[in-house]
Amino acid sequence: MKKKAFLATLAAGAMVVSLAACSSGGDSADGAGAGAGDGGLVGVAMPTKSSERWINDGNAVKEQLEAEGFKVDLQYAEDDIPMQVSQIENMITKGAEALIVASIDGTTLTSVLQDAADADIPVIAYDRLIRDTDNVSYYASFDNFKVGQQQAWSLLNGLGLTELDGTPIEGAPAGPFNVELFAGSPDDNNATFFFDGAMEELQPLIDSGVLVVGSGQTDFEQVATLRWDGEEAQSRLENILTSTYSDGTVINGVLSPYDGISRGIISALEGAGYSVGDTWPIISGQDAELDSVKAIVAGEQYGTIFKDTRKLAEVAVDMTIALLNDEEPEVNNTTDYDNGKKVVASYLLDSSIVIKENITEQLVDSGYWTQAEIDG
Ligand code: GAL
Repeated sequence: MKKKAFLATLAAGAMVVSLAACSSGGDSADGAGAGAGDGGLVGVAMPTKSSERWINDGNAVKEQLEAEGFKVDLQYAEDDIPMQVSQIENMITKGAEALIVASIDGTTLTSVLQDAADADIPVIAYDRLIRDTDNVSYYASFDNFKVGQQQAWSLLNGLGLTELDGTPIEGAPAGPFNVELFAGSPDDNNATFFFDGAMEELQPLIDSGVLVVGSGQTDFEQVATLRWDGEEAQSRLENILTSTYSDGTVINGVLSPYDGISRGIISALEGAGYSVGDTWPIISGQDAELDSVKAIVAGEQYGTIFKDTRKLAEVAVDMTIALLNDEEPEVNNTTDYDNGKKVVASYLLDSSIVIKENITEQLVDSGYWTQAEIDG
């Protein structure tokens, strides 16, 4: 009951939920004894510290687990797959009771997760689906297809074509607008969801000629960015600017699936002589990273997608507590996330579009960033 109420509160968009309220000490209705955590160890494997969002995720998960009485082994693998595998092996050896894993490559954990299953350790896939294994218990994430649609809508909104919810604007310019497309890492299940969601919105406009992809690169394989690497995105755009836009044709928009990639895109444009103003393109993003929020204020990036890492941490922690109490975690999607072995039951959170005009409402009022941090 309490968990249902807890998640219902989450779904209603409450920003701060007291986790302490979910487990009332020794007389917890969860039957977990002294606090839901019971002093046990939970292993938390995060992909990299090179992106601010994962630092926020790791901190939020750790703090919330510790508030529940768990010990936490939080590890970052610097995008090194063998390192992540050995970190998880270590967690199992140390006696972790549960694992929360944001994978680097969703297909590479099959063997170590078999070890986890052999030791009866439940595994929660955190934000990124773990693929090709039966040994993933639940998935905590966002509605990733919708995130992709929102990325497209932010791009289209910046071009004056749609509202932020994708509703066409009457009397919108006919274009054509020159755009280029970027996708995320091909080994991250989310990347295809984002790209498919975005293309659902963009493809009809490409077909009708309102949008023109100058490079002709519209397939996922052509536009993917291994490890979400901003420098790789930068050099791909530099090549495209040279090959396709050096005759003075102006690029009007860039679909970017992640703020780190957007920053690479901005660098490539600056290098090619673009400057913020009339000819600066509309650029999307994702994660509301602080530097990118500043870039939105500065007019370099048009928008980003805000996915509240605190809420995601709450879902993962709640799932962990339920599993360790032999209860069924609450889920709201049992159809969309097939990992190649099974459909993984998921709890998907909502995301929202941030543009310059709603930064205060979205990010400051929610306490995600302070105005001072954004101004600093
Ligand atoms: C994805 C995640 C995005 C972004 C990206 C790069 O898996 O869903 O929000 O963070 O990784 O880190």
